[in-house]
Amino acid sequence: MHQPTQSAKSWTLDNVPYGDVDPSMVRDQEHLFYLVTAASFIEIAADLYTDNLIQYFDGDQEVVDWLENKWKPEEVRHGYVLRDYVAHVWPGFDWQAAYDGFFQEYSRMCTVDEFEPSRCLEMVARCVVETGTSTFYQAMSQLTEEPVLAGIVARIRADEVGHYKYFYRFFRQYSATEPPGRIKILAALKRRMIEARNDDAECALRHAYAIRCRQGDPGFSSFKELMSTLGAQVKRHYPVDMAAKMLIKPLDLPRALARLLQGPVATATKKIML
Ligand SMILES: [Fe+2]
Ligand SMILES: [Fe+2]
Repeated sequence: MHQPTQSAKSWTLDNVPYGDVDPSMVRDQEHLFYLVTAASFIEIAADLYTDNLIQYFDGDQEVVDWLENKWKPEEVRHGYVLRDYVAHVWPGFDWQAAYDGFFQEYSRMCTVDEFEPSRCLEMVARCVVETGTSTFYQAMSQLTEEPVLAGIVARIRADEVGHYKYFYRFFRQYSATEPPGRIKILAALKRRMIEARNDDAECALRHAYAIRCRQGDPGFSSFKELMSTLGAQVKRHYPVDMAAKMLIKPLDLPRALARLLQGPVATATKKIML
């Protein structure tokens, strides 16, 4: 019987026990292949927009230091860990070719112009992004029984929640000196959520699918079928309440009102984000 080399709790994202993975538990789960691959692309490409973001916050040393020394390395590490998992379980897949195609298209989409009009509101937008990643990895942790992948996504999820907390803290700092008001915060939330819908994920999946087709084994008869299967899988496990709670937090609503709004916001979140 296969014996794990380390106890399940002892490893970190710096020393993932890939040798403990039983590929037969996941190899045939095409939806997992696509989710892990697409996530690896987007996480590694964080490298690109982090530089834009750092430029945007130029002069605010605390934010810049954190983005450079903590946030960026963690996001990129997520990407490399997921990439290595793909290489371990699906070694025939030409990850680099798919990533190169993705990067070429994605790098044209990331420009400074897409940032919010103020630093405070950009922090709100960052909270939306981290809500998206935290809840995505939460859903993914429900999608696999393979212990190493489950451990990876649980650890990444914890990092993403940590990122949310930092961005939220920076948002509070900015709003203490120049409060933007709830209307503008709500508009920033909405803008970013709508943007999240026609997501980077589609771009990443399209490039992964193209290479799988070229290699003769896409696993799905069409890209449309792939998208609807993934949508259904993620939707089934998507933590809407967690998303709603994180999204309305920057509005700093009175507790009773926040509680009242959570249900409708959860419903709206499901419609917009999924
Ligand atoms: Fe990440
Ligand atoms: Fe993050």
